[in-house]
Amino acid sequence: MSKSVATELSGCAEKLVRGRHATRAFRPGAVPEETMRAIFSLAGAAPSHSNAQPWQVEVVSGAACERLADALRAAHAEKRVSADFPYSEGMYSPTHQARRAAFGGELYGALGIGPDDHAARAAYDAQSLRFYGAPHAAFLFVTGDGGARLAADVGAYMQTLLLAMTAYGVDSCPQGLLSFYADTVRAELGVTEGKLLLGISFGYADEAAPVNRITTGRAALGSTTAFHG
Ligand SMILES: Cc1cc2nc3c(=O)[nH]c(=O)nc-3n(C[C@H](O)[C@H](O)[C@H](O)COP(=O)(O)O)c2cc1C
Repeated sequence: MSKSVATELSGCAEKLVRGRHATRAFRPGAVPEETMRAIFSLAGAAPSHSNAQPWQVEVVSGAACERLADALRAAHAEKRVSADFPYSEGMYSPTHQARRAAFGGELYGALGIGPDDHAARAAYDAQSLRFYGAPHAAFLFVTGDGGARLAADVGAYMQTLLLAMTAYGVDSCPQGLLSFYADTVRAELGVTEGKLLLGISFGYADEAAPVNRITTGRAALGSTTAFHG
């Protein structure tokens, strides 16, 4: 690759990667079908172990989106939790917990929810099951045995998809919370294979919403990355 092409590409990559943010308030307007096909086709270029591509992607829009949101809220209200991938607070190290707390402070601060207002936080989570008002959501299933290595491949697919959306001017929010209702998603969409890793809400951001203006920092390079040799 020539130096000038690399310079151009790195400039685009800086804009693309740093230009993606989690969006938590959407306008109702739908993404055109042609744009949607271009995005999901590009996401399919994601790498995977031996090119096995162990993902199954279910995209919901329109009436299907509304039906699924209703079913998710009903499952939440009835505490019908079904997560294919185990979750516990204990999986995080103290360093992770400190980063999570800083993020939570930013998010709930922008929403005007106090640090100890657990009821308001829970209500916001429940409300987010309506995909933050997005007109579409994509559900990423890990096929095969659904083990850690295959889930990592689907993680690579996820980030490729998020960047493809950004490149096409589409905003998104990955929502692990949606994976806590895997049986509900399966039943509504008639999915028979795979483990649900997460859902991604997408559409066009409501730029006026304060929640979309929060910024998230990152750990210093030296604290996550070592260069040897
Ligand atoms: C696997 C995964 C699960 C996530 N789950 C949620 C979620 O359930 N709800 C939510 O509002 N954001 C969720 N997020 C978004 C993160 O909070 C967000 O990516 C992180 O705070 C960094 O902010 P940024 O994406 O704006 O850079 C999730 C992100 C990832 C990658």
